[in-house]
Amino acid sequence: MNKTLRKFNVYMGNRKVLLPLSLVMSALNGIVSLLPYLFVWLIVRTLLETGGIARDTPVNTYSWAAVAAAITSLLVYFVSLMLSHLAAFRVETNLRRSAMRKILALPLGFFDSNTSGRMRKIIDEDASSTHTFLAHILPDLAASIVSPLTVIVLIFIFNWPLGVACLVPLVSAAVLMGYMMDPKHNDFRKLYMDAQERMSAEAVEYVRGIPVVKVFQQTVFSFKRFFDSIITYKDLVTKYTLAWQRPMSLYTALIHGFAYFLVPVAILLAGRAGSHAPIIADMFLYVLITPVIATNIMKIMYLNQNLYLADEAITRIEKLTDADLLPVAANPGTLSDYGIDFEDVVFAYPGTRQNAVDHVSFSVPRGKMYALVGPSGGGKTTLARLVPRFWDVTGGSVRIGGVDVRHIAQEELMRNISFVFQHTKLFKTTLSENIRYGNPLASDQDVQRAIDLSRSREIIDRLPQGLHTKIGAGGTYLSGGEQQRIVLARALLKDAPIVILDEATAFADPENEHLIQQALRELMKGKTVLMIAHRLTSTQQADSILVIEDGKIAEQGTHEELLSRNGTYNRMWKEYQKSVEWTV
Ligand SMILES: Nc1ncnc2c1ncn2[C@@H]1O[C@H](COP(=O)(O)OP(=O)(O)OP(=O)(O)O)[C@@H](O)[C@H]1O
Ligand SMILES: [Mg+2]
Repeated sequence: MNKTLRKFNVYMGNRKVLLPLSLVMSALNGIVSLLPYLFVWLIVRTLLETGGIARDTPVNTYSWAAVAAAITSLLVYFVSLMLSHLAAFRVETNLRRSAMRKILALPLGFFDSNTSGRMRKIIDEDASSTHTFLAHILPDLAASIVSPLTVIVLIFIFNWPLGVACLVPLVSAAVLMGYMMDPKHNDFRKLYMDAQERMSAEAVEYVRGIPVVKVFQQTVFSFKRFFDSIITYKDLVTKYTLAWQRPMSLYTALIHGFAYFLVPVAILLAGRAGSHAPIIADMFLYVLITPVIATNIMKIMYLNQNLYLADEAITRIEKLTDADLLPVAANPGTLSDYGIDFEDVVFAYPGTRQNAVDHVSFSVPRGKMYALVGPSGGGKTTLARLVPRFWDVTGGSVRIGGVDVRHIAQEELMRNISFVFQHTKLFKTTLSENIRYGNPLASDQDVQRAIDLSRSREIIDRLPQGLHTKIGAGGTYLSGGEQQRIVLARALLKDAPIVILDEATAFADPENEHLIQQALRELMKGKTVLMIAHRLTSTQQADSILVIEDGKIAEQGTHEELLSRNGTYNRMWKEYQKSVEWTV
C-alpha cells in the first residue's frame, strides 16, 4: 500500500496535499454519516417511551437534525470527492505524459517488437485504471475504516451485550475474508491482467490481419490464436469464481444474518429488565447500524483488489518505458560533411544470438549512391536502419561525416536523413499535411515543387479537393505506387543531405514504377544515398553495389565489375533479366 502510494505521489506533482485532504474529509464523513442513525434512534426511543401520543416531544427537532446531518454528510463527501478527483486526473495525465515522453525517446526499432494494441492498453487503460483507485477507492477507504470503528465503539457504549451478539457473526465473517484475501491470490490477479492484455493484443492482430487471412483462406487458423487467448481468459475466470463459491456464500450469510444473533439476546435482556422500550429502541439502532460494518468490510476488500490493479497498472507503464533508451550524446557534434562510414559494425537484435550484421565495413563518400542488394533476410534493412539509430550497434561504429552517430544529437540526425521505409505510411489527414510532414515550415511554392518532382501532380489534380483531400476519409484511398510518390514528395520537401531508401518490394504497375523511378532520381540528386534495391533496375546507376548475405558483405563493386565476377550478383542479375522478359 505504502509502496504504491509512494509511486503515485511522484506523479502528483506540486499538488501533493489534495489526496490527504480528501482522505481527511472522507474520514470526517465516515463519522457524520452515522449521525442520522442516532437521531432516528432517539425518535424511536421517544415514540416508544411516550406511546407515540404525547405532544411536547422533541421528535420534530430530531427529525430535522437527522435531515441536516444527512445533508452535511453529503456535502462533506462531495468536497472529498472533488479533491480526490483533482488528484486522480493529475496523476492520470502525468502518467500518460511521462509514458509518451519516454516512448518518444525510445529507439525507433523498439516499435518493431511491441504491438500497438499492447501499447494502447498500457497507456490508455492502465492509466485510467489508476483513476478509480485514487478518485474513489482511496477516499472511501478512509471512511470505511473510520465508520466501522465508530460503530463498534457506539454499539458497546449503548448496550454491550447486544454489541457482543452483533460482533460474533461479523468477526467470523472478517476472519473468513482475511483467509480469502490471502496474498497468494495476487498470483491470480497478475495472471488475470496478463490474460486480458494478451486477449487485447491478439484481437488487434486478428483484426489487422483479416484481409490477408481472407485472401489465403486461413480464417480458422488465424482465429485460433485469438480464440485461444479468449479461452485462457475464460478458464482462468471460471476457475477463480468456482474457488470462491463456498467461502463467499458463507461470508454473505454471516454478514446478513447478524439479526438472528441479536434477537435471542434482546429477548433475554428484555425479560430481565422492567421496561421493553429501551431494549427495542437499542435493537432498532443495532439493526440499522451494524450493516455499516459489513458494507465497509466489503469496500475494504475491493480496495485490496483495486490497490493491486492500480499497482500493476503503474508498474506496467513504468516497465513499458523501462526499455533501454538510446543514450543521449554528451557533447553532440554538428554535421559538416555527409559521407557515411561503417567500421567493423556488428549488430544483433536484442534477445537473439546470431548477428544480423556481422563485421561490416564500407564507406559511402559524400554525394555518392550506394546500393544494397542480396537475398531476403540478409540484413540489408538492419544495416540501413543503423544509420538513423533505430538501434545502436553492438560493436564497431557508424559515422556520418566522421562523427559517430551516437555523438550526434537526435534532432540533428533526423534533420539530415530522409528515410523512406519499405512499408510507407500516410497519415489519415490531408495530402497537404502528409507532404508537409517533411518540412512544416516549407512555403507553398516548395510544396508545389516537391509535388512536381515526385510526379504526384496528376494524383492531386484528380482528387476533388486536391491537396486538401483527406486520405482514408470518404473512401479516398491511394494505390501503393501513388502512396510511394506522395511519400517521396514528403522526402523531397525535407531535402535532407542523406537519403536512405528501402525500396518497396512490389510496385503496382509499370506506369507507376516508371514515375517512381523518376521521382527517386530527383530525390537522390546530389545526395549521399544508401539504397536497398529489391529489383535491380536501380543498381546500374549506383556508384557501388554491396551484396549483403548473412549479415556480411559478400561482394562489392560497380554493376559491370560484379557482372564479370560470376558471383551472387551475376546470378541475381540473370534471374532479374529473366523476370523482366517474363513481364514484357
Ligand atoms: N526486429 C527484429 N528482431 C529480431 N530479429 C530481426 C528483426 N528484424 C529482422 N530480424 C532478423 O535479422 C535478419 C536480417 O533481417 P533484415 O530485415 O535486415 O533482412 P533484409 O535483407 O532487409 O531482408 P528483405 O530483403 O526481406 O527485406 C533476419 O534474420 C531477420 O530475421
Ligand atoms: Mg528489408
